[in-house]
Amino acid sequence: MSIGAARAYTNIALIKYWGKQDEQLILPMNSSLSLTLDAFYTETSVRFTSELTADRFYLDGQLQNEKQTKKVSSFLDLIRHKYDVPQFAEITSNNFVPTAAGLASSASGLAALAGACSAALDLSLSPTELSMLARRGSGSACRSIFGGFSEWQKGDSDTTSYAVQIPSDSWEQELAMLFILVDDAQKDVSSRDGMKRTVETSVFYEGWLTAVADDLVSAKQAIATKDFTLLGETAESNALRMHATTLGATPPFTYWSPDSLKAMNLVRACRLEGIPCYFTMDAGPNVKVLVQKKDADRLTARFAEEFNENQLVLAHAGPGIEILDSERSLTYD
Ligand code: DP6
Repeated sequence: MSIGAARAYTNIALIKYWGKQDEQLILPMNSSLSLTLDAFYTETSVRFTSELTADRFYLDGQLQNEKQTKKVSSFLDLIRHKYDVPQFAEITSNNFVPTAAGLASSASGLAALAGACSAALDLSLSPTELSMLARRGSGSACRSIFGGFSEWQKGDSDTTSYAVQIPSDSWEQELAMLFILVDDAQKDVSSRDGMKRTVETSVFYEGWLTAVADDLVSAKQAIATKDFTLLGETAESNALRMHATTLGATPPFTYWSPDSLKAMNLVRACRLEGIPCYFTMDAGPNVKVLVQKKDADRLTARFAEEFNENQLVLAHAGPGIEILDSERSLTYD
């Protein structure tokens, strides 16, 4: 059977996905909206073969053990079941990140895996079908099928929950995102575990669901009218609202570290100094700052006064998933 390969870029949510209505199908409690970025991507190749008696997964050149292969194998089980494929597969995946600071993302990883499987099996999926498939690997991956802004419409069943590209007249080309890579002294709570705990126990979760619907309307209006202030203010409040839910969970937790707060405060200071910029954060301590391209150098220079240069990565809007020529696919002995 032939090899399939794909490259997918990571995306950062401006309106967050936080909580599932169905864990098995990965149907979210709320719709979300993201920007796909150019600086971080994953290239994955998949080869189904009857020579193997188990899936074999190489990540960044290293053969992964059974535990490390579990997420990939569960996704392949789904594919095998859905498309009646009897073989195991060899999967080769490489994360392209500007620094080694743990920026690998499940969004780019699972989107690339879905694209590579679809190519290997010649499934001829539409972008919408590919988005539904990627969603089953990791929710946020369904948004990485599209470049620029994308909205994951929550739906209420397997075939009604997928991402769509948001028309933007290429406005995203005027935007940038500065990543502040912050040391994590705390024990990680994965996004999957964190959102589950929050849905099940947070006294603030109802408030999140009420607020996020309005935030999404504002963000889409901001994109339609190219209103940077509205987009930034909405994204920043939405991130704070998501993170507030974790403090109301049992047991409570937070993804913030002292340096996350330092970065957030610096964003506020930059605004007072006349650089319009807004932060967002995901299930980890890194801070991402939305800024207009024309101000990106000034913002980066300002952050370089307080952080090491190797903690700073500037990204721009990136493309949707690319199916690669199998000649270009990567193999290891
Ligand atoms: C905070 O997509 O990693 O980044 O669906 O369980 O795989 P699973 O979760 P994942 O969660 C991402 C959560 C977030 C917000 C977002 O990207 O929308």
